[in-house]
Amino acid sequence: MQILLPERSLTPLSDDQHHLLQQFIAVLSPEQAAWVGGYLTGLIANNLISVPSTDDIIDITILVGSQTGNSEALSEQMHSLAAGRGLKTVIKKMGDYKLLQLKAEKNLLVIVSTYGEGEPPDNARELVEYLFSKRAPSLKQMQFAVLGLGDSGYEFFCKTGVDFDRRLEELGATRIHPRVDCDVDYESSAEAWMNAVLNELSIRLETKPQTADLSLSSLASTSAYSRKHPFPALLLENIVLNGRGSLKETHHLELSLEGSGLTYEPGDVLGVYPTNAPDVIDALLQTLHFDGTERITLDNKESFLYDALFSHYEATAITRPMMQKYALLANNRKLDQLLHDRHKLNDYLHGREIIDLVADFPSDQLSAQAFVDCLRKLPPRLYSIASSLKQHPDEVHITVAAVRYPSHGRDRKGVGSTFLADRIGEDATIPVYIDRNTNFKLPADPSTPIIMIGPGTGIAPFRAFVEEREAVGASGKSWLFFGDQHFETDFLYQAEWLRYLKSGVLTRMNVAFSRDRQQKIYVQHLMAEHGKELYAWLQEGAHLYVCGDEKRMAHDVHQALLRIVASEIGSDNAQDYVANLQKAKRYQRDVY
Ligand SMILES: Cc1cc2nc3c(=O)[nH]c(=O)nc-3n(C[C@H](O)[C@H](O)[C@H](O)COP(=O)(O)OP(=O)(O)OC[C@H]3O[C@@H](n4cnc5c(N)ncnc54)[C@H](O)[C@@H]3O)c2cc1C
Ligand SMILES: Cc1cc2nc3c(=O)[nH]c(=O)nc-3n(C[C@H](O)[C@H](O)[C@H](O)COP(=O)(O)O)c2cc1C
Repeated sequence: MQILLPERSLTPLSDDQHHLLQQFIAVLSPEQAAWVGGYLTGLIANNLISVPSTDDIIDITILVGSQTGNSEALSEQMHSLAAGRGLKTVIKKMGDYKLLQLKAEKNLLVIVSTYGEGEPPDNARELVEYLFSKRAPSLKQMQFAVLGLGDSGYEFFCKTGVDFDRRLEELGATRIHPRVDCDVDYESSAEAWMNAVLNELSIRLETKPQTADLSLSSLASTSAYSRKHPFPALLLENIVLNGRGSLKETHHLELSLEGSGLTYEPGDVLGVYPTNAPDVIDALLQTLHFDGTERITLDNKESFLYDALFSHYEATAITRPMMQKYALLANNRKLDQLLHDRHKLNDYLHGREIIDLVADFPSDQLSAQAFVDCLRKLPPRLYSIASSLKQHPDEVHITVAAVRYPSHGRDRKGVGSTFLADRIGEDATIPVYIDRNTNFKLPADPSTPIIMIGPGTGIAPFRAFVEEREAVGASGKSWLFFGDQHFETDFLYQAEWLRYLKSGVLTRMNVAFSRDRQQKIYVQHLMAEHGKELYAWLQEGAHLYVCGDEKRMAHDVHQALLRIVASEIGSDNAQDYVANLQKAKRYQRDVY
């Protein structure tokens, strides 16, 4: 049925609910739609769906700061959990949040991730700056609780959550419940935090729970496949995009989503659950003097050590908490000293894996169970979706750079990328889910110009963007910046871009091949070279997107953008101009 829902903000629905409803309506016949309408009305009339009463407590704000959507998904879940207890909450994204509103918040539940090297997500920066500025108000009226999302593989684990928690207290707010810092397997700790916070709030606000504790899994079960219940996707195609002689190995993979009911939009990300490489596990077992047949308990069930290491545990990357737990078993003075010297520890961690740790600091009488108890769960790997569903129904495409490098005398390989590149046989399935990324989306108006900057695998979402714009017949101009090492071997999806340029779907393309000439040239140099036109596009309302390497590229591109704007309106105004672009969601980044 061709019916368009009103904009999300004009409905009482969450982003996900709005999205689901839109998709649902699209497949209904008029008779089916009429039946569904009557059915829902009947449920409400019979009190089978509770209608919030005007007495509901509405003074709870869930304030969410998210880059890739995990915190956003949790905020939606918390919203539903709260509703089950008669607590009405409103979700506000940090990027849209009115700073002056902070003074009026009575109950503030913060869910926020950490990015870069201990930095806030892009859309949380302004709020964090305000909170830590002299302008920050007294928050004595406020009760709060903070859930931090992060990855203990990073030095500054959950730092933004830590900063919020400390600062809100400094400003006079009262903590409802202690902060929880979630690692990559955040589901159960997030769920425990939510239930504890909501219990406490129910008591303080004297609401009567409408249902008992709800679990995230019971909520997640409304959709068949999710991060918790991944879909086994059949591999359809695995092609190396680089030409012979390239130093790069970039794979284009096509997977089938048929029968999954999973959908996605350009800008969304595919989550993949990999397994470890068998030869890596064999080498680790050998170093530990285990043979893999040792029995361990995993999730209350018995398992062979080999199987657990192969598919359940992170068996390569060292995290600081892992190292600390292992140090208690190893009882080694040098290891203890290392853990207390930040610089030496960072040096040690560079290029080393768990196999090096157990070889360098062996632990006598280590049991298999004690060893796995030091490890964390193998986290899923994320890949920007490189296809539009409109052009490839029931399929999802990704662009994966195989991570392989030598270090400290061993050949290393990235778990997820080489799982996808090397270890999936014909007819094999891969456990996947869709990670919605509301912070990296095409403009709603297809006539809006777009500028896309995506060197290396950063090109992936722009293939999806351009496919989508072609499918909907978008009239807006589009400009793509791409870069890699060599024109001859590394021009990813070259034939497709040439076709789009010819047909006019892509208006402009500028490419930087860094190793084709003496002086290295990168996308940021091309931006500078065409700075005047780029600024003119921005003045016409263009949206600017950056995808790819976070450490160097995204930073250099940001600086280039600031310089381009500064040369037009002066450096004093350039910061504000770019910050406003970000705030208006016209400058979005998907960087990793
Ligand atoms: C939102 C998002 C989107 C992404 N999209 C894409 C995408 O489209 N395509 C893509 O290929 N990747 C993408 N990634 C990255 C991807 O998720 C994985 O991080 C990447 O594939 C590496 O994972 P791995 O399991 O192969 O490597 P891991 O086993 O996780 O190992 C990677 C680690 O190895 C170490 N390392 C790597 N190289 C070296 C070296 N030369 N010297 C020393 N140490 C080194 C580093 O510590 C690094 O963190 C994305 C990430 C995010 C968060
Ligand atoms: C490029 C990049 C940098 C990151 N930096 C940190 C960090 O410094 N500290 C941390 O605890 N987590 C870090 N993380 C992990 C994220 O915080 C974690 O994946 C979180 O679940 C993301 O939540 P979100 O999707 O709501 O943004 C980083 C992740 C990426 C991709």
